Amino acid sequence: MNINNPFDFTGKTVILTGAAGGLGRPITSAFARAGAAVAVCDLSAQGLAVLADEIKGFGGQYLTRKLDLCSQKEVEDFVKQVHEKFQKIDVLVNVVGGILRKLASEYRLEDWERVVDMNLKTCWISCQTVGKIMVHQKQGRIINFTSNAATHGTQNNAAYGPAKAGVIALTKVLAVEWGPYGVSTNALAPGFSVTPINADVLANPKAIERFAGRMPLGGQLLPDDAPVGPTLFLASDAARWINGHTLYVDAGFNAT
Ligand SMILES: NC(=O)c1ccc[n+]([C@@H]2O[C@H](COP(=O)([O-])OP(=O)(O)OC[C@H]3O[C@@H](n4cnc5c(N)ncnc54)[C@H](O)[C@@H]3O)[C@@H](O)[C@H]2O)c1
Repeated sequence: MNINNPFDFTGKTVILTGAAGGLGRPITSAFARAGAAVAVCDLSAQGLAVLADEIKGFGGQYLTRKLDLCSQKEVEDFVKQVHEKFQKIDVLVNVVGGILRKLASEYRLEDWERVVDMNLKTCWISCQTVGKIMVHQKQGRIINFTSNAATHGTQNNAAYGPAKAGVIALTKVLAVEWGPYGVSTNALAPGFSVTPINADVLANPKAIERFAGRMPLGGQLLPDDAPVGPTLFLASDAARWINGHTLYVDAGFNAT
């Protein structure tokens, strides 16, 4: 390991799912700036175009694909293309996710299933598809985005909370199954951040106060800052022996 610069990703290939979102965009840019070839996918073609413009400036290789991460076929096609182009996949970051805030008594089954699919099925399909390649390579890093809603009972999270708890459970299973092949799997739980997923909460000063009040370090987390360094850390050689862990990047919310 280069201890002076463990965040040098030159020569590494990184796949990011849900990359065009509020947290995905700055994390993708940071990997590109750190020298990685980045392969990114998202449902939003417009978001991917903005992201491509940004990473183009760093001069490295990149590939973008609009796809539905709930479709195994679309994910398999994308991963095949990435593998053929770059010959190996070093890191998978599953940033993909989504929320629908409703009281449990008001949730319709189809909405519940959609939120579980958006957070857990997407993560499972990408992990399995890329993980098979990493196991074959005998090296790889997987980072799955989860949430404090997985471990804390919070209102309006009857689908999102269980789905994100499932992401943590899946992460631990894969850490055990694939660890012996040199593949580590960890989860990262961002705190409440200023991104589109929170548009409705951000419009309500009382709700913001409630979240911020539970963060001992205070304030709202900015996407360009909070989760970027910790994601690169988990993907780096400095985190080589971390496996099956959930890293909370939440200004201390999880401690309250
Ligand atoms: N922002 C926060 O406060 C916060 C807090 C805790 C956890 N998280 C988690 O962090 C991750 C990123 O959050 P964010 O704030 O960037 O959210 P976001 O809504 O800005 O981005 C999510 C991205 O995922 C994409 N996506 C959703 N379903 C998809 C599908 N089926 N196929 C392809 N793409 C799909 C969306 O198009 C979007 O670009 C999510 O997993 C979220 O649950 C966020």
